[in-house]
Amino acid sequence: MESRNPAKAVKDVVESAAEKVTEALTPQVPGAPGSAPPSLAEPTTPHDPLPPKPEQGTPQTRTPTGAKTGTPAKAKGQQGAFLTTAQGARLRDTDHSLKAGPRGPVLLQDHHLREKITHFDHERIPERVVHARGAGAHGIFTAYGTAENVTRAGFLRKGRETEVFVRFSTVLGSRGSADTVRDTRGFATKFYTDEGTFDLVANNMPVFFIQDAIKFPDIIHAAKPHPDREIPQAQSAHDTFWDFVSLHTEAQHHTMWNMSDRGIPRSYRTMEGFGVHTFRLVNAAGETALVKFHWKPKLGVHSLVWEEAQLLNGIDPDFHRRDLYDAIEAGAFPEWELGIQVFPDTPEETFAGIDLLDPTKIVPEELAPVQPIGKLVLNRTPTNFFAETEQVAFHVGHLPPGIDVTNDPLLQGRLFSYVDTQLTRLAGPNFPQIPINRPHAAVNDMLRDGFHQQAIHAGVAPYRPNSLDGGNPFPAGVDDHPFIDVPVQVAQAPKIRQSPASFDDHFSQARLFWLSMSPVEQEHIIRAYTFELGKCYHQAIKERQLQCLANIDPVLCAQVATGLGLPAPKPTIPLAEVEPSPALSQVGRQWPVDGRTVGIVVTDDSDLDTIHHVRRAVFAADMVPLLIAGHGGMIGDLPVQRTFATGRSVEFDALLLAAAPPPAPDALPARDAKAGAANSATIDPRVLLLVEEVWRHAKAIGAWGTGVTVLDQAGATGSPGVVTGDSGDDVFDSLRQLMTQHRVWERFPASLS
Ligand code: HEM
Repeated sequence: MESRNPAKAVKDVVESAAEKVTEALTPQVPGAPGSAPPSLAEPTTPHDPLPPKPEQGTPQTRTPTGAKTGTPAKAKGQQGAFLTTAQGARLRDTDHSLKAGPRGPVLLQDHHLREKITHFDHERIPERVVHARGAGAHGIFTAYGTAENVTRAGFLRKGRETEVFVRFSTVLGSRGSADTVRDTRGFATKFYTDEGTFDLVANNMPVFFIQDAIKFPDIIHAAKPHPDREIPQAQSAHDTFWDFVSLHTEAQHHTMWNMSDRGIPRSYRTMEGFGVHTFRLVNAAGETALVKFHWKPKLGVHSLVWEEAQLLNGIDPDFHRRDLYDAIEAGAFPEWELGIQVFPDTPEETFAGIDLLDPTKIVPEELAPVQPIGKLVLNRTPTNFFAETEQVAFHVGHLPPGIDVTNDPLLQGRLFSYVDTQLTRLAGPNFPQIPINRPHAAVNDMLRDGFHQQAIHAGVAPYRPNSLDGGNPFPAGVDDHPFIDVPVQVAQAPKIRQSPASFDDHFSQARLFWLSMSPVEQEHIIRAYTFELGKCYHQAIKERQLQCLANIDPVLCAQVATGLGLPAPKPTIPLAEVEPSPALSQVGRQWPVDGRTVGIVVTDDSDLDTIHHVRRAVFAADMVPLLIAGHGGMIGDLPVQRTFATGRSVEFDALLLAAAPPPAPDALPARDAKAGAANSATIDPRVLLLVEEVWRHAKAIGAWGTGVTVLDQAGATGSPGVVTGDSGDDVFDSLRQLMTQHRVWERFPASLS
């Protein structure tokens, strides 16, 4: 029967989807949930599963012990046209339990009912104790060969390509928390090298709150929600956080980064990444060097402003996740360069007087430039979020030959912590065999059995030495590229719970960071401290943190104190003499605009040719145009992505006004509070609000035709970063230029100079 031919049926579905895609003359806005548009009526013709979306990738098909299987990725997903049990028996009905008659009771023998509910009951696993909220993507790392003199790691040889999986995350929030909270971001990369997996488990800030891993539970307990009411979620603006960091002052440098714009990134694609710790590299001759790893985003470092971040938490809590996946789907592949700062491996383990084992310190790039060693491109989204992003397990101890750890006491504690937590989170010791975690190198580890063992190990002698398995596995010889622990000299010293004296400097680099910021960035820092401390209940905690700020910089302290209504204390230590590091500022340069969003306000009367033209120009600039109109559906032959009711300024990086829309039928205060008192307005008040917000957040705005009157009514005409012109093309061109600076910085009035 033709209707039973799965191959034919799936072909029809896919071909009809393809036809619909080619029907549209311009590229599609990313974000469609499936790989084919749905039909209005429920599909009833059986067919094979639809293919994944073109931008989706999966972990390579490897055996649990690292060998290539050659199995197509498709074979890992669901199979066949028909609903089955977990054992593959075809089922006729999944809508009704098996009952003794239509009115019941339900029968215990209903295996399908019990299997379905039992599996569902166990679908959740514990979320990560930190970094629970995250989003991952697949990509490729290509080495430049520039690190060959300092490391023998094979994947860093010139031209070598290595598959990677990256997971970005926030630290504090639960798995369902919002993306744009003020927090540090995780930037963990798994390089599937053929010499064993390398995990670079990094953050978007180069320093950490604590110098010794034994304090990790303390900082996390202080920063997570209060244990009695379990509030606030995913933020540091509360008493226990500031109680801890104001007492444990080594946290002050990291806290300063969190209060800066780095704490609210615009996108994962616009974040730097830092390995934080100093690592030790070993080259082919056995020579060692100390290094710090850096990720540099192609799009530059770019952040939200605080009001945008707060609005986004409600309007689009998935903002960063959506941005990452939409960018990949749109072909604007996120890119970073991996770089290293290289220091001589001296017995003191210091550089320019900076202790390289202290994770609360940076080495300014002006003193040790970041040397690029390779490029990362993220080009595939996950096919299944749980299987890939939730189950991925990183570990700072996953190192290939040529990369080794140092004695940084924070790093040493991390070496213990990750596998320990994953044993519980991923239910047993065999999580390295989960597809996303499988190495791309041959595994022969003598580890056996345990929950969920996937490998079928042969032989009888998983021990060494043995003769029964012919002596296999054998220790690798020096020429077989083994991992060799660097025989670092350990200094003669008493066994003691103490840090080196150099770790006692807690304020100088917080001051260095503050003094390296432009006036507008300093304003944001003042605002962030004032906001966060203003949310604290206890005055003693605010006063204590003000004392820390006084020891960093009196101007910063005085400004925050004013906002809190408290006197500014005097410093209790001499202020450090520091040289600012301009590389720390994110203002003043120009960057590519790939993957940014441009909102275009249109009406049914807009000149469709112009809109088509501008929309194509936005796509051609590797950006995403989103049409905003008074109603959903279509404007001419173009789909509307946002209405005045559903859209909000924070979703757009820039705004184009092609029309001056009169109030739409739903511009009623009772229907949409944003509409205000719309009755007497000539322009829909939500469009004016859009312009006001975009203007306030220093984004570029362009208008032509009647769109110019919107600018006049919003009072935006003539201000910096607002462009008008006769043709949509010219206006978009100027807008694109403005966007390369990320924001129209001149629009922020800075009170500091
Ligand atoms: C420089 C300091 C640190 C950095 C850069 C860092 C970074 C990260 C990142 C990026 C993740 C998320 C991994 C993922 O996406 O799955 C993570 C998770 C985690 N980190 Fe850290 N971390 C640091 C310090 C520590 C310390 C000191 C400890 C404990 C002693 C620790 C314990 C953990 C744990 C338990 C997880 C959850 C892992 C899992 O469930 O898979 N981290 N960390």
